[in-house]
Amino acid sequence: MTKKVELHYDGNIYNLPLIEGSENEKAIDISNLRKDAGLITLDKGFKNTGSTESSITFLDGESGILRYRGYSIEDLAENSTFLEVAFLLIYGDLPNIEELTSFTKEISEHTLVHEDVKSILDGFPSKSHPMGVLSSLVSSLTAFYPKSLDPNRSSEEINGTIIRSIAKLPTLAAWSFKNRMRQPVVYPDNNLGYCENFIRMMFSLPTVNYEVNPIIASALNKLLILHADHEQNCSASTVRIVGSSHASLYASISAGIAALWGPLHGGANQAVIEMLEQIREDSGDISKYIEKAKDKNDSFRLMGFGHRVYKNFDPRAKIIKKAADDVLGQLGIEDPVLDIAMKLEQVALSDDYFKDRGLYPNVDFYSGIIYRALGIPTDMFTVMFALGRLPGWIAQWKEMRENHEPIGRPRQIYTGPTERSYVMIKDR
Ligand code: CMC
Repeated sequence: MTKKVELHYDGNIYNLPLIEGSENEKAIDISNLRKDAGLITLDKGFKNTGSTESSITFLDGESGILRYRGYSIEDLAENSTFLEVAFLLIYGDLPNIEELTSFTKEISEHTLVHEDVKSILDGFPSKSHPMGVLSSLVSSLTAFYPKSLDPNRSSEEINGTIIRSIAKLPTLAAWSFKNRMRQPVVYPDNNLGYCENFIRMMFSLPTVNYEVNPIIASALNKLLILHADHEQNCSASTVRIVGSSHASLYASISAGIAALWGPLHGGANQAVIEMLEQIREDSGDISKYIEKAKDKNDSFRLMGFGHRVYKNFDPRAKIIKKAADDVLGQLGIEDPVLDIAMKLEQVALSDDYFKDRGLYPNVDFYSGIIYRALGIPTDMFTVMFALGRLPGWIAQWKEMRENHEPIGRPRQIYTGPTERSYVMIKDR
């Protein structure tokens, strides 16, 4: 028998169904509350609101658990490849060898973008932020693939758009970097792996015989896996809500990139390094910045600290911290900013302000340090996050469409003026 939750309101009792997830998460189904009781729920920033039922990613913020389709992030980051994880997220199961080979082959056959994309790229000033360029270029794919606009195509055709998205994003991302550097674009090499191909398109120059360093490719593989999905976060919710109006996958991903850009979400990785640099230039005075972060009259926040759902620790941050140490060691790099990050973490973790609010380093606290070590410039960090998050966005969009979810359209409590009569301008 379905469990119910009783709501007592205005002398009436309403029985609201209780929904239970496979990990025993519980929710009250309020979908009929307005019809039955004339009430809506109010929850700014959706801090305690489930927007959907999803079988993609499970996370338990209190215990620091993150699993994609049931597999722990620790296992996946240690043992799998990014394309394997992409397949898992999008299609629901880990691929066998044949499935992975054919998925990889299909992706490598679609890495090239139309030559006319270059003319669009040329129109962007060199100072353009690569996230803006990337979002625009992904949206422009609708012009090259107009059939992708039809939301009711067959699943094979939709799968074609999925494959193209995964195949072309690294090309568009690397080209947005090349545009910023005013360097000639590098075409994809389909004989290389996903990460290797991206690194080559980023760093290769016509005058240099470029060899991809396997340490860099392996570190990138891990970072992309760690960012691949994070259930109903700001950008995934954006992708779902845009797609719920039956906008195309490319349009929805483009919107997801825009949502990710902000410093409270994916843009935090860029903001962390900028903050650490600022502290370093300010003679490494950590306590000054801790006090600023605690001061409610100061808008400064400790970037890379805190999370909407993790209130104990972020399991991705644990893996990344170790990876940062390993990568810097393997590449023989000493980055003074890593020392500042470690000291800052130590001081913040022993401070009651941060302890009381459950503020811990998140995935972005150490990721920027690795990107820097890999030679990736600061304003490309969030683009790296977008590359990683792409399979998650696709999986979320696909699930939303396959479940025939209705258009996303929250309600509100209106607080403006009640009805008033129009006053002619001469009388105002
Ligand atoms: N530094 C100082 N104080 C903070 C911080 C911070 N980084 N984060 C939260 N707080 C305080 C906040 O002022 C509030 O204090 P009080 O209760 O006294 O008003 C309390 O902690 C709760 O914060 P909140 O803003 O209500 O929490 P939220 O769940 O709305 O925000 C967050 C989560 C991630 C936006 C926030 O912690 C933050 O701005 N962190 C810095 C930006 C950052 O690193 N973002 C990356 C998140 S991980 C990557 C991703 O998945 O997007």
